[in-house]
Amino acid sequence: MSFRFNFGGDDSEDDDVPAPPIVTAKTPAPAVRIPKYHTLEDLIRLLPQNISYSTLKVSSSVRIPRRELYDVRMQLMAEDGLDISVDGEEQAEKSALAGLGDEDIRTSFYEGGLKSWECSVDLVRYLAAEEEGTWGGVRRVLELGCGTSLPSLYFFQSTLYRLRHGEEISPHHFTLADYNAEVLRLVTLPNLFLSWAMSRVSPGDWDDEADLDVTEVLRAEFTSDIHSLGITLDFISGGWGDDMLQLLSSSSPGGYDLVLGSETIYSQATTGLFTDVLLGALGKEGRGLVAAKQIYFGVGGSVGDFVGRVEGRGAGWRCKIVREERDVGVGRSIVEVSSSS
Ligand SMILES: C[S@@+](CC[C@H](N)C(=O)[O-])C[C@H]1O[C@@H](n2cnc3c(N)ncnc32)[C@H](O)[C@@H]1O
Repeated sequence: MSFRFNFGGDDSEDDDVPAPPIVTAKTPAPAVRIPKYHTLEDLIRLLPQNISYSTLKVSSSVRIPRRELYDVRMQLMAEDGLDISVDGEEQAEKSALAGLGDEDIRTSFYEGGLKSWECSVDLVRYLAAEEEGTWGGVRRVLELGCGTSLPSLYFFQSTLYRLRHGEEISPHHFTLADYNAEVLRLVTLPNLFLSWAMSRVSPGDWDDEADLDVTEVLRAEFTSDIHSLGITLDFISGGWGDDMLQLLSSSSPGGYDLVLGSETIYSQATTGLFTDVLLGALGKEGRGLVAAKQIYFGVGGSVGDFVGRVEGRGAGWRCKIVREERDVGVGRSIVEVSSSS
């Protein structure tokens, strides 16, 4: 099933009026993508030679460069017919993305990761507004359904800043997970690369809109710099479920200190799986932060449904609404998930 949400995702031109999804095709949903683990080395060789970006100004002190969607589309067109994808099996996924048109989501094919959705900006604002030191002990960060990964980019930038400005070097680990391997290749890693490039220049020297040349030298500097700062980045593509959880526990054996998710609970069909992966990936003292619209008309997901599922899991799991936007068409919340046991 393919449809548009009409919720006004950040990159979308939709207005804010919720509407039922427009069903444009009745093809059967394909099998859910099997989770796969990808190292930074797997993906970095697939970066384009040039990234067109613009810089999102979240506040006076938080700026996040993001790859432009038209640049992604141009890359997909240029690669048409060429065997370039995360691995051979994703060739079909790439062709599907190239032919997407304006669809926000095509169920079980493409789940919306190429665009930034508005709750991801809420989550960045929330992370940035917390008192200095709140996130100091966070070393292992996972973003589920990351797409353009704005919340992780904020965290990545602030980690780079702290490590370059006197914080003792210690291991930091970021895992970015998305349904589509191609989203990881086309936007998630390019955006991490842009944030890193921005972190190396003084604020006045960063062009808010430009093209970045991704030379071999720059790629090598990226990997050696983050390595010398003790940062590891890895990636998982595929559907939420037990297989993904296994890959996550190999990637970060003690679990994650912080698990982030934005606009990941829109579908009741997958919210249970998302909840299981989120709770299963949290380390002992870890917490989850999930930003979402209070209700997703037409597709059934809601904050209430998610909170009910978390609390229904028992074992001391609890939810707290830590931020709310009510004076907008569809309200938006951030839910903090933690365990009291
Ligand atoms: C609406 S997009 C939101 C993207 C991003 N978090 C944001 O807010 O901009 C939903 C994200 O969840 C991921 N996703 C949706 N269903 C999934 C599933 N069943 N398994 C794994 N990831 C899924 C998609 O790949 C996509 O990145």
